[in-house]
Amino acid sequence: MTDVPVSIPKSPSYADYAAEGDRPLIPDTSNPFDLLDAWLVDANAHEPNDSSAMSLATVDADGMPDVRIVLLRGLDGQNGLQFYTNYDSAKGTQLAAHPSAAVCFHWKSLRRQVRVRGRVEKSTPEQSDTYFQMRAPQSRIAAIASDQSRPLENRDVFNQRVAEISAIYGDDDDIPRPEHWGGYRLIPTEFEFWQDQAFRMHDRLKLKRDGSTWTSSRLYP
Ligand SMILES: Cc1cc2nc3c(=O)[nH]c(=O)nc-3n(C[C@H](O)[C@H](O)[C@H](O)COP(=O)(O)O)c2cc1C
Repeated sequence: MTDVPVSIPKSPSYADYAAEGDRPLIPDTSNPFDLLDAWLVDANAHEPNDSSAMSLATVDADGMPDVRIVLLRGLDGQNGLQFYTNYDSAKGTQLAAHPSAAVCFHWKSLRRQVRVRGRVEKSTPEQSDTYFQMRAPQSRIAAIASDQSRPLENRDVFNQRVAEISAIYGDDDDIPRPEHWGGYRLIPTEFEFWQDQAFRMHDRLKLKRDGSTWTSSRLYP
């Protein structure tokens, strides 16, 4: 057998599973938004930080997948899953060419995963303005100053830009959103909820959009 490095934890034993007790099954639902919302509430109560963090997968012009974490900043049936970023970043360029994405949440403390796939569109300028104004002034200035994903000669260059933009606004809280920054919404066509169960007999609930309703099915682990 190949040696597993000590840095990688061992597979749980019978005693490990017994010590942890029963894990819940995923409730039946035809409303994936409500269930994701409920799981986000649980995650917010249990995760040490960034409970709305999700991996966002896109593809580049060559069809090569790419992935990074962004924060979920809005969730509803009409606007889907909303996140904010730099439109000229690597992900922005990829989404402009291929406006589809997948996201994946993993809450380790709850042993849960949620996968979502769908098409992606830009939020309205009004939605992006509203969210931008909710950020701390320094975070707004950093968003203006950052050429996200492009080469940075050294940290001093970025600090200098931040200082110059800060000097323009001073104590003025009216810092407008730059055009290169804003929101996206992922309009889901499918969700998959996953709950860890003992001995890898995990529970999986898949929901597929069927017009204005959702069709659900269980999947083998
Ligand atoms: C916990 C966490 C939250 C993050 N949230 C965001 C976010 O909401 N928006 C964003 O643009 N980048 C966020 N990032 C940074 C991205 O992972 C990534 O480095 C950045 O967006 C550039 O990605 P790109 O070069 O693929 O466009 C976050 C990173 C972490 C670890």
